[in-house]
Amino acid sequence: MGVAPEIVIPDHLRPTDGRFGSGPSRIRSAQLDALLAANPTILGTSHRQRPVKAEVGRLREGLRTLFNLPDGYEVLLGNGGSTAFWDAATFGLIRDRAQFLSFGEFGAKFAAAAASAPHLGDPDVRTAPAGSAPDFVAVPGLDAYASPHNETSTGVTRPVRRPPGIDDDALTIIDATSAAGGVAVDPTQFDVYYFAPQKSFGSDGGLWLALVSPRALERIGQIQASGRWCPAFLDLAIALENSRADQTYNTPALATILLMSEQVTWFNAQGGLGWATGRTAATSGHLYGWADAHELTSPFVTDPQLRSPVVVTIDIDSSVAATTLTAVLRANGIVDTEPYRKLGRNQIRIAVFPAVDLADVQALTACCDYVLHRLADA
Ligand SMILES: Cc1ncc(COP(=O)(O)O)c(C=O)c1O
Repeated sequence: MGVAPEIVIPDHLRPTDGRFGSGPSRIRSAQLDALLAANPTILGTSHRQRPVKAEVGRLREGLRTLFNLPDGYEVLLGNGGSTAFWDAATFGLIRDRAQFLSFGEFGAKFAAAAASAPHLGDPDVRTAPAGSAPDFVAVPGLDAYASPHNETSTGVTRPVRRPPGIDDDALTIIDATSAAGGVAVDPTQFDVYYFAPQKSFGSDGGLWLALVSPRALERIGQIQASGRWCPAFLDLAIALENSRADQTYNTPALATILLMSEQVTWFNAQGGLGWATGRTAATSGHLYGWADAHELTSPFVTDPQLRSPVVVTIDIDSSVAATTLTAVLRANGIVDTEPYRKLGRNQIRIAVFPAVDLADVQALTACCDYVLHRLADA
């Protein structure tokens, strides 16, 4: 990265909060107030006792409400984040062979985890170039179909739909790490919708949460009964038992749970997922409109149907180095607008999870206008 030229953005143009990262993402001060209020009654106390279990229960119930879960669905949680969930799913959800949609870094990683598991058959991996998305194809005998809902590395959102024609007991396993809470979803279309707290939920990483259908609960039971070996830390049957008791198998980060719980409560009080997705539609819509209109920028995802409402990727004309733009923004307190590092494009990436106000996004584009104008003149 080159040295950022000294461009000072006038104060009146700057956003109130300059954090636009794709996770960890901004944390609202009301969440931190809730954390302070939980000291000393909850923070620093045992996770096996009622005060902490009540918080885990509040989080599970809040997610059930937020996602309008049908009867029979359960909320599971455990330590290790979404990356650990890939391994847990490899042991405890995929019976033999799964199909994976791979159109960016994260979908590819789950496929690779399954491909390297000696107890599974070869995965059926369907790929598409960055910026687009492949479709599932029903194949008799495959027992799971896995895809990201939102591919954070490229800014592509693929709607969650159970693929027609798949085996009756096949599972749809959706990586919702960056989608959950900011993108609409119909729970009848997934069997497992898993995510982590550091995106829409404005908390820290290190935890996984999964919304699990009766079909997937049955699969967890079947695999457990088969006697397949699984490390206890990744065992979904153990996670299920603990989740039902409003606890995790091993000690969780209580502050992470509290921050997330506060965010879920806030979403529900404001109007739930419909309210949250209305916000992300407005903020991402502003960004795509700006990128279309500006002569030096264009949305990276060309198909408007696939454009993410939470992670907006914008290509910058080759006459301006995006690294210079992001460096100037960073020097002015506007951070984490860099693209996914391995994508290798002249690009900025702006996350607009529901906590991000439209006024801040409008301020961001005004700041980009200001900096691009000066860089183009230089
Ligand atoms: C779509 C997606 N899946 C998985 C992960 C990995 O999540 P974690 O860091 O919680 O393991 C990320 C992280 O950014 C992600 O964006």
